[in-house]
Amino acid sequence: MINPEKFASLLVEWSDSNNRDLPWKTDKNPYKIWLSEIILQQTRVQQGLPYYLHFVDNYPDVFALANATENQIIKSWEGLGYYSRARNLHKTAKKIVVDFNGIFPDNYDDLLKLPGIGPYSAAAIASFAYEQVTPVVDGNVLRFIARLLAVELPVDTKDGRKEIFDFVHKAIQFVIPSVFNQAIMDFGAIVCKPKLPLCIQCPFAKHCTSLKSNKVNLIPFKKHKKQKQERHMNFLDFKFNNKYSLICHQNTNDIWKGMYLLPILEFTDNNINEAVNNFIFELYNDEIPFIIHKVNLKPLKQILTHRVVFCRFFEVIFKYLPKKKKKKFKFLLR
Ligand code: ADE
Repeated sequence: MINPEKFASLLVEWSDSNNRDLPWKTDKNPYKIWLSEIILQQTRVQQGLPYYLHFVDNYPDVFALANATENQIIKSWEGLGYYSRARNLHKTAKKIVVDFNGIFPDNYDDLLKLPGIGPYSAAAIASFAYEQVTPVVDGNVLRFIARLLAVELPVDTKDGRKEIFDFVHKAIQFVIPSVFNQAIMDFGAIVCKPKLPLCIQCPFAKHCTSLKSNKVNLIPFKKHKKQKQERHMNFLDFKFNNKYSLICHQNTNDIWKGMYLLPILEFTDNNINEAVNNFIFELYNDEIPFIIHKVNLKPLKQILTHRVVFCRFFEVIFKYLPKKKKKKFKFLLR
């Protein structure tokens, strides 16, 4: 089995010749590192990069971000998903300004206390900004090390994580922490991928215990296979005269909270007419005549971390524009 020192030196060697040139790698400014880490939570580098550049341009420091309104930040975040990240970004910016005079905490424990910063992000920020010896252990790292050492314990248990954490914690001591963490993240994403890992070009191939025993595709083991919750969302594009659309303020404590969206009805069957009728009656206390066009028959499927969302879109054309309606809805001119 490979020892931690040899592992660290091979990893750094790999990163030296496979370095992705990304703006947050060369800037030690903790504000920018924090921004990049929050953007890259549950987001691929190529998708997150333009958002990072936009945020750095529009909110060049923590004071600018704290002074922005939540709506401005949500607008800047539009399209990235998981909007609680944007809200926590704003909360943390304000906290840093008010409680820390605009200076980021320089250690793992204090970073962990900030909204939106979990163990993984705290470890990443502490190492990238301050060279603290705090290894990052996320899903990519768990998979990579579990395969390398052929860890038989499930990686979603305390003991399984501990075996992996102990190994990377030893290994990081031998090299520069920021280089180690960036390399281990990149390696898990680029080479030791969940499906079709690049074992042929892997510099660890001759040390990889699961490759030797032909178990790469079986590891990592998981104890709890998470069943993702399915949601079937039917978006209703209410129109009148082709000029107005009905927009609904999401005021429930659900995804997309606080945003303006087309009204959504959640159901799986095909009884759309009845569902829309009930919805309109609830909205106006009246029956308003309408015509429905299905925009997509086959639902669009979006896989998120904890959910699978199926979306269908319907155009609902009102024959006349109703007068009174509930406050959370408004008609917007198209
Ligand atoms: N995912 C989270 N942080 C990252 C980083 N610094 N580089 C690449 N992917 C990441």
